[in-house]
Amino acid sequence: MSTVPSSTPWWHTAVIYQIYPRSFADGNDDGIGDIPGIRSRLPYLRDLGVDAIWVNPWYRSPMADGGYDVADHRDIDPIFGTLADAEHLINDAHALGLRVLIDVVPNHGSDAHPWFVAALVAAPGSPERDRFLFRDGRGSDGEQPPNDWISAFGGSAWTRTTTADGLPGQWFLHLFAPEQPDFNWDNPEVRADFEAILRFWFDRGVDGLRVDAAAALAKAPGLPDAGFGPGDGFAAITWVDSPLWDLDGVHEIYRSWRSLADGYPGEKIFVGEVPVNGSQRLARYLRPDELHTAFNLDYLKSPWDAKALHSAITETLDGLRAVGAPATWVLSNHDETRHVTRYGRPDTAVYPPGQQPLHQQVDLELGTRRARAAILLMLALPGSCYLYQGEELGLWEVEDLPEKVLQDPTWKRSGHTIRGRDGCRVPLPWSGTRPPFGFARGGAAAWLPQPGAWSDFTVEAQSGDPDSMLELYRTALRLRREHPGFAGRVLHWQPAPDGVLVIDRDHGLRCVANLSEQAYPCPGRLLLSSRPVRDGALPVDATAWIEIDTSGGAWPAS
Ligand code: NOJ
Ligand code: CA
Repeated sequence: MSTVPSSTPWWHTAVIYQIYPRSFADGNDDGIGDIPGIRSRLPYLRDLGVDAIWVNPWYRSPMADGGYDVADHRDIDPIFGTLADAEHLINDAHALGLRVLIDVVPNHGSDAHPWFVAALVAAPGSPERDRFLFRDGRGSDGEQPPNDWISAFGGSAWTRTTTADGLPGQWFLHLFAPEQPDFNWDNPEVRADFEAILRFWFDRGVDGLRVDAAAALAKAPGLPDAGFGPGDGFAAITWVDSPLWDLDGVHEIYRSWRSLADGYPGEKIFVGEVPVNGSQRLARYLRPDELHTAFNLDYLKSPWDAKALHSAITETLDGLRAVGAPATWVLSNHDETRHVTRYGRPDTAVYPPGQQPLHQQVDLELGTRRARAAILLMLALPGSCYLYQGEELGLWEVEDLPEKVLQDPTWKRSGHTIRGRDGCRVPLPWSGTRPPFGFARGGAAAWLPQPGAWSDFTVEAQSGDPDSMLELYRTALRLRREHPGFAGRVLHWQPAPDGVLVIDRDHGLRCVANLSEQAYPCPGRLLLSSRPVRDGALPVDATAWIEIDTSGGAWPAS
């Protein structure tokens, strides 16, 4: 029974489950997750209680950056299946009442993209090269990169080409790995091709697109230096007036995308990955004629601290009010340390790559307790929520992967000093007591090794155990769908002591999160809590959903 008024667009309240396809489920037993694997597990997701899935890139790709190096946006990589598999997945999901979002990666392609292959053999100044950002180098022989820009994965954002005669040639720009050349968004062919790609997937029934690196597409004319110094890291959320990020030119692109999406029936949406400096800059992407929503990376990066969370929530809602966009909330994704691990460290904040304080002890029990509290807090906020596969199982970051299995380009580009993001991408444990835990049904080894301790964390082991993370998620998602208090777009902060967050929603629904150092009394009718509430007191590092006002009749009405 859904109690969300039917006039509320689906994407204002949806819970969206992120699938990293290589690591979700393997359908052909080669140790790599794929689309048939996802199809086989759709009933699990329906029963979990989510509204939609978002599938990370599944396109043809050499996989230099886990598929974010796209060689062909209109085809599926053979490791994941075929275009027909993708179409079947979209149809199956719809038949189960799940919507489907996929990635679009507009800032850059792959070095295997036919346009880039053609550009490399074409002459400087040619139309082929103009689809990318090729430039002559600086210095007497062009031996210096054209400017000081840096790559998100470390080092310069420029790589020099070699001519057919084996001589050093022009340089090309890549804000990410060298295998990911940046497109030139001033080139009309690039714009037209991406509009055709959007149509290609909307025509196949996809309900939404997640826009990768959405703030990167426009670059300052002349590509001037940004003023980076030696050792500077890629910290886009701190950049102001940068020549490579968050330029005004991006907005006209999203305005044209929005009008394209609005031409389809049934509310096709965009969600932007837009790490920019503050909620005001973010809101510009969410004006009514641009992207529908964006990830709330500030919320994800908040430490487990009541003041910090309070201000992340308030700033989010205040920033979006001006443009009328709904909020989104998220705790983990395929780029960040899993939150069970983060919350189990003495310092719970997220840092840019390489800046995380090293060698912090992780207390997984503490992290798990906080993760349970965090999900109830997040799901009580007005807006839509993103879950990252495996968080519903309470999985932690695998921090001890052997070096030889690491695949994230960060590892290589940082000179083997920053391990990168593989630790949050380890394949899911579904069943059984030994790896691959039902990930590959025939028993093939998973592409990244799973910890043996995950035997207690499989879907099978947790199902039916009322104390498990999985059952907490299932119950919470059911309540969020059914209780009328979760609809609507406002929350009311109630006075509370330091370390405690008390949020009222409509219909007498209250969420209390206790991040203080002592138990906190929380009278009312308990709907759900992340730790047992004894004698009306909510323990430390716990969240409860309660009804405080049942004068109109307790929920559910009998
Ligand atoms: C953001 C994606 O989430 C990340 O995984 C990827 O490496 C970069 N964009 C580059 O596409
Ligand atoms: Ca496979």
